[in-house]
Amino acid sequence: MPVTAAKVENVLFEDQHPVPSDSRAELMIGLQKKQKQVNPKYFYDARGSELFEQITRLDEYYPTRTEIAILQRHAAEMARICGPDCVLIEPGSGSSEKVRLLLNSLRPAAYVPLDISATFLYESAVKLAREFPWLQIQAICADFSNQWHTHTELPAGRRVIFYPGSTIGNMEPAVAQDFLADLRQWIGADGGVLIGVDLHKSEALLSAAYNDANGVTAQFNLNILDAINRVANADFDKRSFSHRAIYNQQLQRIEMHLVSEKAQTVKVGDSVISFNKGETLHTENSYKYTLEGFTELIEAAGFRLQQSWLDEERLFSVHFLSVNPR
Ligand code: AVJ
Repeated sequence: MPVTAAKVENVLFEDQHPVPSDSRAELMIGLQKKQKQVNPKYFYDARGSELFEQITRLDEYYPTRTEIAILQRHAAEMARICGPDCVLIEPGSGSSEKVRLLLNSLRPAAYVPLDISATFLYESAVKLAREFPWLQIQAICADFSNQWHTHTELPAGRRVIFYPGSTIGNMEPAVAQDFLADLRQWIGADGGVLIGVDLHKSEALLSAAYNDANGVTAQFNLNILDAINRVANADFDKRSFSHRAIYNQQLQRIEMHLVSEKAQTVKVGDSVISFNKGETLHTENSYKYTLEGFTELIEAAGFRLQQSWLDEERLFSVHFLSVNPR
């Protein structure tokens, strides 16, 4: 696979040219299941990313502002635990917004944002480089889930993965455990993980956060149909589906679905998918953890919980995980 590198100011940009997996085939597999489902990564096209930004500013949606407050409040202590001159690696860095809250305290030897979108990654890295002229940025365009490390030499220093936003909540716990276990080989025995995790709480608060009064989350959910139409040459009609978000108490997860308002058929590429009235397309899981449950998960993945930070209402949590010696 060709690797191109360009040196701009304090940014080193490396494009590993990640090849997108066959999205059409992947989408079809989900749509043919008994409970129809779609990978929530399809939410984040241009419109979906914009709608998600709007969600993060909603009164009802507590996670983003609460995590930001935790990072701001405890940045100095987080920096002390990460240690001086660490190499901070952020998978799925996007616009690198949250890391800005840590950089002045942390003063890492290098910041390594990883993202699948080359242009967005490059533009975000250059913008960050201008704001933090002392910071060495090694941006890598790669699919983090797919051997990103093979080409890349990182600067020396203790490796710390930054994984905010409760992104881990999108994964089934067993998948989250494998994901965390895989991180150990990137960070080595002395590395760490700084991770944001949403917490289990009253159904009323959770339900409000995913059923906002202005219907932004509904628009976000429905927008995935436009993304599917584009990627898989399908003809979903947004007007004949409606948003549903429920808290599954037993599995401790918010489930988002799109409910078919009527019996209908949808063309997807060369296939036809039929929906009964009331049948749903499952678009997202957002797992909520108790501290005990999260501790159990990370210990099974070979980590130990070195430190946790919570807001006063215990809505959200940020943790520093270190590798468990064995
Ligand atoms: C970005 C996956 C953390 O689960 O709360 C927001 C996505 N979905 N509203 C979440 C989301 C509906 C969000 N994550």
